[in-house]
Amino acid sequence: MNAKKNKSSSKKPEYNILFVSSELHPLAKTGGLGDVSSSLPKALKTLKQDIRILIPAYPFAIQKAKSIKYIATINLPDSGFPGHLGLPVQSGKSVAIIETKLPGSQVKVWMVESELYNRSGTPYSDDDNNEWEDNDFRFALLNYIAVEIAMGRTTLKWQPDIVHGNDWQTGLIGALLEDEHSQSRKRPATVFTIHNMAHMGIYSRERFDALELKSHLWNHHELEFHDDFSFIKGGLVFSDRVNTVSPTYAEEIQTEEFGYGLSGLLTYRNERLSGILNGIDMKEWNPAKDPHINKNYSKKTLSDKQNNKIALQKHFNLPGKKNTLLLGLVARLVYQKGIDLLLENMEEILQLPVQIAILGSGDLELECRLRRWVTKYPEKIQIQLGYDEALSHLIEAGSDAFLMPSRFEPCGLNQLYSLRYGTIPIVRETGGLADTVTHASKENLTNQTATGIVFLESKGSTILDAINLTSLLYQNNTVWKKLMVNAMKQKFSWKESAKQYLRLYTQAIKDRDEYKKHTPVF
Ligand code: ADP
Ligand code: GLC
Repeated sequence: MNAKKNKSSSKKPEYNILFVSSELHPLAKTGGLGDVSSSLPKALKTLKQDIRILIPAYPFAIQKAKSIKYIATINLPDSGFPGHLGLPVQSGKSVAIIETKLPGSQVKVWMVESELYNRSGTPYSDDDNNEWEDNDFRFALLNYIAVEIAMGRTTLKWQPDIVHGNDWQTGLIGALLEDEHSQSRKRPATVFTIHNMAHMGIYSRERFDALELKSHLWNHHELEFHDDFSFIKGGLVFSDRVNTVSPTYAEEIQTEEFGYGLSGLLTYRNERLSGILNGIDMKEWNPAKDPHINKNYSKKTLSDKQNNKIALQKHFNLPGKKNTLLLGLVARLVYQKGIDLLLENMEEILQLPVQIAILGSGDLELECRLRRWVTKYPEKIQIQLGYDEALSHLIEAGSDAFLMPSRFEPCGLNQLYSLRYGTIPIVRETGGLADTVTHASKENLTNQTATGIVFLESKGSTILDAINLTSLLYQNNTVWKKLMVNAMKQKFSWKESAKQYLRLYTQAIKDRDEYKKHTPVF
């Protein structure tokens, strides 16, 4: 291991960190995991950490990378699951590592090249949005390669002090490294970040066997989960430290409602569980410099925001009304985001003096239901289906308010982008939304702390009430302007959160060194 540094305890530690993820903006992104996988490593690099990001070499990622070079080949042993990954014979049971730089930074990205990733679509599904059936094998390979690098069994001449995994796609790393540890080999410390408990990577016993995972892991204290097994449990059970992306979500997942059957395990591990709020990339999401929007603006030139509203109305073919409250929504159209709740009272919402501009894709039924409203009230609601990075920036800049009626939200980035753009977030009080938006109550408006509209219940009628309140506030220019300025004053840079991750890494190393095998008793 390269514990070269950290001589004086007063100095900031400098670690070698392997950051493993299935998404990385701008190379491969479906949601906030992509943003965080790019902006957190950049912030850690600024704190002088030697960080490398490991992702699959999806063809669309290779295409977007500025320049690439092949830097190593990693051989897969014949025994154990890597030998059975179904790789074509010509790939010779080995994979290549391709190096590139994260665009706009000096952060090194290592991409694992394999036939298993050489497909079009998204990181998880084909062009028609059907999940790949072999995602367990695809991501097990990523985990396995992370372990080979972690244990120094490659020609890369670099070894991490910390392996930082993200979400279920990296959950086996903890379990595999634990196995190294039990064979008296010193392993790096492990940190696992939960971005979303709703995705757990659950597969059958048959797949467990096909992956040739060690049979002793098949018990309900370890990988087994109700007669299947779960990738995310590997991360939760075996990592030295577990964290999630907001303090409130760290509490919520220890309850039955949000824990998806693992609240007991999370409560058992709660001394090693924490919440660190995500930051945002202040360069990419900066209304004063954003190249994707019609007119740049800041707190001092707030009236220029109007130009973006006009451009947005034009883009969506909505009537160019300057004084009508324009609500934006950018999201994966899925259960989590509460779109069905928004639809419950759509008739009443559209009777209010509002327009709605939506960008998203996901659940076909939700897409259809939204489209029906577009057909009925084309002058009030419009939707663009699909993924469009530039338009997502224009929606943040051009909308007056931003809708996030999420049932749960581990952190949420769009409300943070909205605050920075002076676009008032309308959010449910859950997870990171609760931690970052302050409700426009009378008291908060008076003491100038209000930054958005926060509602409690996950119900269509509550969302209607929240939009009603927004509409009333919008009609009072002075109040609305104050809200916008307060929102824009909020600071969500990565600087502080990255420092918290550094402290987490230090704790993880300490925990690894003081390690005693424990059996969860949940
Ligand atoms: P989640 O990760 O649950 O999807 P977040 O709010 O953390 O939610 O992050 C979502 C990210 O994905 C944001 O950067 C948002 O702008 C982006 N995004 C989501 N859907 C789209 C889309 N259809 N087009 C462009 N960007 C999108
Ligand atoms: C997940 C969550 C979202 C969070 C993002 C990045 O996708 O749904 O709330 O902001 O990860 O951590």
